[in-house]
Amino acid sequence: MSDGDSGRKLLYNPHIFMCLEENESEPGRGCCQDKGAMELFGHMRAYSKQNGVTGIRINRASCLDRCELGPIMVVYPEGIWYAVRSKEDVEDIVRTHIIGGERVERLMVHPADRVPEDLVTAEQTE
Ligand code: FES
Repeated sequence: MSDGDSGRKLLYNPHIFMCLEENESEPGRGCCQDKGAMELFGHMRAYSKQNGVTGIRINRASCLDRCELGPIMVVYPEGIWYAVRSKEDVEDIVRTHIIGGERVERLMVHPADRVPEDLVTAEQTE
């Protein structure tokens, strides 16, 4: 496997980082662990294995700063961010993205999907 651009061989493809943070980065934003991230993490590993996905690595990550949208994961080498809420969401990512090579548009987190304005602190806006 290579990254497609440079022809370099990748150690893992895909390489997935899923937030399992259990502390709120800011009050009111929530954390991925409280929204079921650990169960979804385990399900993604199991479902990938059941479906014969090879070359995959699914790592735990700390806060990815999209807490209110979580649980959050990032899929490399593409760098596609997803918000997942259910086992069905995880299965859709494995089937459609990991196996099928397509995006799951309905679950994608885009750069504009930011923290709601009322949660941005005065310090961040200065
Ligand atoms: S706690 Fe998961 S993105 Fe912040």
